[in-house]
Amino acid sequence: MAEHLDISQGDKTDKYSTLYKQIVSLVEGEPDTIARMANIAAMIHATFGFWWTGFYRVVNDMLVLAPFQGPLACTRIAYGRGVCGTAWKECTTIVVPDVEQFPGHIACSSASRSEIVVPIRNKEGLVTGVLDIDSEHLATFDDCDREWLEKIVALLQ
Ligand code: SME
Repeated sequence: MAEHLDISQGDKTDKYSTLYKQIVSLVEGEPDTIARMANIAAMIHATFGFWWTGFYRVVNDMLVLAPFQGPLACTRIAYGRGVCGTAWKECTTIVVPDVEQFPGHIACSSASRSEIVVPIRNKEGLVTGVLDIDSEHLATFDDCDREWLEKIVALLQ
């Protein structure tokens, strides 16, 4: 059984390029952040077939579950906890090739093997939420995902 998601770098770039254009045209007509998150999660998920694709929003001192696609997930994550809370605290994208090697990883699903978390920043640079994507394969995410997903998340500013 293949441990890695079988997709070439060229295919991945092409898919993200098309996806990005679709997302830009979609969000242009909709100013509401939750509505934008809902369709962005659906489009990323449908394009790549990831295990779980979704958002958490900063509400007071917690990350709270927001629109997502995939199995049910934990609803609240504290600042600095898990991959999501760490990406919030460090205000940077975190790529985890093997979740078992990330101390404090929160296992919402035992099927998740690798993960990427991208913080959403407002115009003042404060983190207002995160995009979290889980894969049931090891080492699914790389710099190509990081670059495109950061571009996509910037549309939520
Ligand atoms: N694994 C994440 C928790 C969120 S679920 O994967 C959807 C984490 O460690 O922060």
